[in-house]
Amino acid sequence: MGLLHQRHIIVAISGGIAAYKGAELVRLLKKQGAVVRVILSRGAKEFITPLTLQALSGEPTHSELLDETAEAGMGHIELARWADLVVIAPGTADVIARLAQGRADDLLTTVALATPAPVAVAPAMNQQMWAHEATQSNLEQLVGRGIQIIGPDAGEQACGDVGPGRLLEPDAIANALSEQFESRLLDGKRVVITAGPTVEAIDPVRYLSNHSSGKMGYALARACADAGAAVTLITGPVSLAPPSRVTVVPVTSAIEMHDATVHCAPNADIFIGAAAVSDYRPESAAPEKLKKAEGQDRVITLVQNPDIIATVAKLSQRPTLMIGFAAETNDVIAHAREKRAKKGLDYIVANDVSDPDTTFGSDQNAVHLIGEDEAHYLPLATKQVIAERIVSLVAHHLAATSQTSS
Ligand code: PMT
Repeated sequence: MGLLHQRHIIVAISGGIAAYKGAELVRLLKKQGAVVRVILSRGAKEFITPLTLQALSGEPTHSELLDETAEAGMGHIELARWADLVVIAPGTADVIARLAQGRADDLLTTVALATPAPVAVAPAMNQQMWAHEATQSNLEQLVGRGIQIIGPDAGEQACGDVGPGRLLEPDAIANALSEQFESRLLDGKRVVITAGPTVEAIDPVRYLSNHSSGKMGYALARACADAGAAVTLITGPVSLAPPSRVTVVPVTSAIEMHDATVHCAPNADIFIGAAAVSDYRPESAAPEKLKKAEGQDRVITLVQNPDIIATVAKLSQRPTLMIGFAAETNDVIAHAREKRAKKGLDYIVANDVSDPDTTFGSDQNAVHLIGEDEAHYLPLATKQVIAERIVSLVAHHLAATSQTSS
């Protein structure tokens, strides 16, 4: 599986003669496993039909900013948050100018402004327009804001001119997008992550557990692997496909997760505890199915599970960077800070699970990454984008720490 597998990518096509190449880009991204949604500017529809893009992407296309039906389905803010990456291809001189101004007067520019995901632009225009000082100064502004510019190519143009301004071929654009997900920030590092719930048996058919889907931990595993780390993912039972290039250690109970973690975590560069570990387990699991005794309540004695992350933080071969999660429903930051200190962690990710958008099982999250003297708010985005932000912040911390100690 490649780096684009299951990525949510918005291909935004603006109105230029190269719009037809947007269709090939959608096809190539789909072929690499991405989930693609297409935005067509009004101008783009003069060059290519929504029906073509709908057939290629397998999703309805989006065009209007203020459209009742579209807003009732996936509204523009939802669409912006859905994306792991937005690519504007082709990006005309006009779109580039409007992006530079921060305009939000159509769907394409609004989504580019509202998305927390990275934005890339593949420019396409006449060579004279490309060379114009206005265009170059607009591009400089976009680059300054972290927008990736892919291309353009040079050569013969549709208008007969020769020079730079041709849209890069779709396979080259797809490759550049794929590289966006490969930051190499954790090259040569070893990362151990726990994810998902634990399942504590009461008898052979009943158990205690929680609603963790594993999505946050799996997104972190993927982000770390994309950044070049060797990743071990110790996971409770979930129904997610294992991320590629990650060593997966499946476990069921908290005791199994504890044992696997104590085995894998020593001397790791980073440990991340994203699992929702059951604090308690039944004192003993009945070997046979417990029978209902008519009219009688049943008391199950629960005993405490070991605190896995706190145990790892006390190891003599403690991982360099320890990161925990705190799923809280009230006083989120205060409780998270308390847990960070109590468990001996470098960072804690405070997660408000009272909000349906950011709770167990949701595809999105909004978190605070809290360190000893720092706090970063990562606003609502897909768990993949949140994971990439966390990885980027902690990788820089790790690099700074190793520079200080060397
Ligand atoms: O899996 P998803 O559906 O994507 O949801 C993500 C999540 C909400 C599960 C995740 O983001 C999250 O917040 N995980 C931690 C949930 C939790 O149970 O927190 P806690 O406050 O009980 O534990 C704090 C920290 O100690 C966590 O890092 C936890 O992994 C760790 N812990 C807790 C208990 C225990 N016995 N051992 C531990 O290692």
